[in-house]
Amino acid sequence: MTRIRRRGAAQLLRDGGQTPPRAPRTSREEPRSSTGQRINRPRAPRRGRARAGHGWSPVEAPMTVYQATTSEIGGLFPLLAANGIPAVGARIGYDTLSGSAFYAHPIEWVLRGLATNPNMVVFGEPGRGKSSTVVAFLLRMMLFGTKTLISGDVKGEYSPLLRALGITPIALGSGSPARLNALDLGPLARWWESWSIERQREELDGLLARWVKLLVALAEAQGYVPTVTDEAVLARVLRRLLGVADGTTRLRPVTIPDVQRELADPDEQLWRETRFADRRQFLDTLRPITDALANLVTGPLAGLFDEPTNFDLDWQAPIQSMDLSGLRGRGDQAVAVALTCLGSWSSMITDLQDDGEIRIVVRDEVWRQMRLGSKAVQAVDSDLRLSRAEQKIQVLVGHKPSDFLSVGSAGSQEVAIAKDLLALCSTRILFGQSTRVADELAEDFALSDKESEVTTGWCMERTGRALWKLENTPGYKVQTVLSRTEKTAFDTNAQLRGAGEG
Ligand SMILES: Nc1ncnc2c1ncn2[C@@H]1O[C@H](COP(=O)(O)OP(=O)(O)O)[C@@H](O)[C@H]1O
Ligand SMILES: [Mg+2]
Repeated sequence: MTRIRRRGAAQLLRDGGQTPPRAPRTSREEPRSSTGQRINRPRAPRRGRARAGHGWSPVEAPMTVYQATTSEIGGLFPLLAANGIPAVGARIGYDTLSGSAFYAHPIEWVLRGLATNPNMVVFGEPGRGKSSTVVAFLLRMMLFGTKTLISGDVKGEYSPLLRALGITPIALGSGSPARLNALDLGPLARWWESWSIERQREELDGLLARWVKLLVALAEAQGYVPTVTDEAVLARVLRRLLGVADGTTRLRPVTIPDVQRELADPDEQLWRETRFADRRQFLDTLRPITDALANLVTGPLAGLFDEPTNFDLDWQAPIQSMDLSGLRGRGDQAVAVALTCLGSWSSMITDLQDDGEIRIVVRDEVWRQMRLGSKAVQAVDSDLRLSRAEQKIQVLVGHKPSDFLSVGSAGSQEVAIAKDLLALCSTRILFGQSTRVADELAEDFALSDKESEVTTGWCMERTGRALWKLENTPGYKVQTVLSRTEKTAFDTNAQLRGAGEG
């Protein structure tokens, strides 16, 4: 066995035919401190030694000079640090450009001037990972004590998630005994007696306004646009039914059939109070609204929203949801009406809980609600406008911007309001889209050509990829990363098979 001889670096170089460089000889002794320690000092003056072959002087480099804007120069790799989005809130995944983690906290974004409102809108083709990203967001915000309300889960996608968290979701529709009174008082009934007279009066006005709005929206869904007279009478009837007109301290439960009965069979006091000449005139004037409400009670929604609520909802739960998947058999209209009732109900509940907590309200498949008509659009509009004041993060999930515009003919007032809705959502999360829709997005959100290409190209390559566009920042290419637990608790693939819209 031959022994391997170890060779030093100098020997290696010599064996390779090179002469190893010698250590430079310095004429001077290295500077030492008084204790004999070497002091770390530059060994040459700033411009080098003034000797031939030493020193330095600038030369004209054979380079091309490029000029670019600061937003483009940000793409130069070694100069890039992070994405400028603060690392607070829900960690969603990573920003593929900088490689850093991407966090979402819309309220913090408002406070830091990155956005003007905390609302988010999520667009993308079915199956691109919209709902999953929303789930990741709300689960991770939960760590900060944020509560979530899924305002109508049309496909029943969120129910397994709720069960995984130990919460029983309320299911409405076929096979479920659950009944939800559209005119439910919610937690208000419980708190009512603890309030001062002033507070009661204030809350009552709010409640009546909300109920009238709801009934008007429901009538509109039946094809009748209520008049101001209808609204005034409805408010009067509701006040009487609640019992506040007779000065009772307790609120009586009210249902839609109660209201309809009062309108169909008014007593003398009612038609006099509402300044009708006689009972006949009252009946004739209010016939359309009376019939519209009657249709609700007997139509495809019969029995769902017109009986007293028969379950207890835990308002302190970290997430609440209403599963409407059992309603699909009753048609789109039924789902849309259910969503309107729910929207009104949930906004009352979230309004009442002014505990300073941040709340997330998710409206998945928002296009269904938009189809209902202008009142439904206005309801969403007013919720979005108030979110800043109420610490609410409204999340609208849909396929494309024109979902919002199905409310009316081009140029109509409804379409104008619906267009405004987009402006009320500072954060736009754009998942993969076809080129046709991408053009629409580019116009509505003023996307650059590059950003538009991202939505049709890069986003389409993997699920969970989206362009996160905050009002005035360039879009961030973010990949949502789901944990294994999240993937199992929220797997919509099984349900997607055979289902239409996403
Ligand atoms: N970031 C992701 N990573 C891996 N799988 C994902 C991701 N996002 C979504 N998915 C999977 O893709 C499927 C569709 O997602 P979903 O959120 O329901 O899409 P959408 O709401 O856009 O229709 C789900 O089964 C989900 O598990
Ligand atoms: Mg979805």
